[in-house]
Amino acid sequence: MNAHPQVMEFFPALWTREESDTVFDKFQVFFRDRGWGLWAIEEKSTGNYVGFTGLNIPSFEAPFLPAIEIGWRLLPEFWNKGFATEAALESLRFGFDVLKLAEIVSFTAVGNVKSQRIMEKIGMQRKQEWDFLHPRVPDGSVLKAHVVYVKSK
Ligand SMILES: CC(C)(COP(=O)(O)OP(=O)(O)OC[C@H]1O[C@@H](n2cnc3c(N)ncnc32)[C@H](O)[C@@H]1OP(=O)(O)O)[C@@H](O)C(=O)NCCC(=O)NCCS
Repeated sequence: MNAHPQVMEFFPALWTREESDTVFDKFQVFFRDRGWGLWAIEEKSTGNYVGFTGLNIPSFEAPFLPAIEIGWRLLPEFWNKGFATEAALESLRFGFDVLKLAEIVSFTAVGNVKSQRIMEKIGMQRKQEWDFLHPRVPDGSVLKAHVVYVKSK
């Protein structure tokens, strides 16, 4: 999934197997330490891996951070079936009801309108004053400018 050009269209680079495994290991440690994180999505009827959606703590600096973010990444064969929206709504519920968060943020590259559509569909609102240049995206890249959405309990 992390090496798929369509999936990674709005990320600076495709991930190698090694990079992907490193992030997977980080997800596991995060789960072990906190009991929540970016959950795997499975298709109920088959048990097939669909992608991930869930909550995370961004590790870079930006004016709207620290905060808990909600994020999603799915295999293209499962796009446009409502999976990301369904999983995101459940992740928000967990964040607000179980973790008792006051606020959850989400951010993406300006051009990633599909991801922004999910943010809107789950009731998040754009905070234009929080627009930022992602420090982990190379200068000059069209992917550097990001928008931020937020939902309060
Ligand atoms: C973004 C992503 C998670 C959406 O997953 P999904 O399961 O297809 O999402 P859903 O089916 O719940 O909803 C898709 C919505 O996007 C809309 N959409 C689809 N293609 C679109 C496009 N090119 N432009 C705008 N909206 C689009 C659909 O119409 C639908 O909205 P609607 O219900 O109002 O019609 C998925 O496309 C993905 O994994 N993309 C690559 C990874 C990525 O960019 N992650 C986010 C990084 S911040």
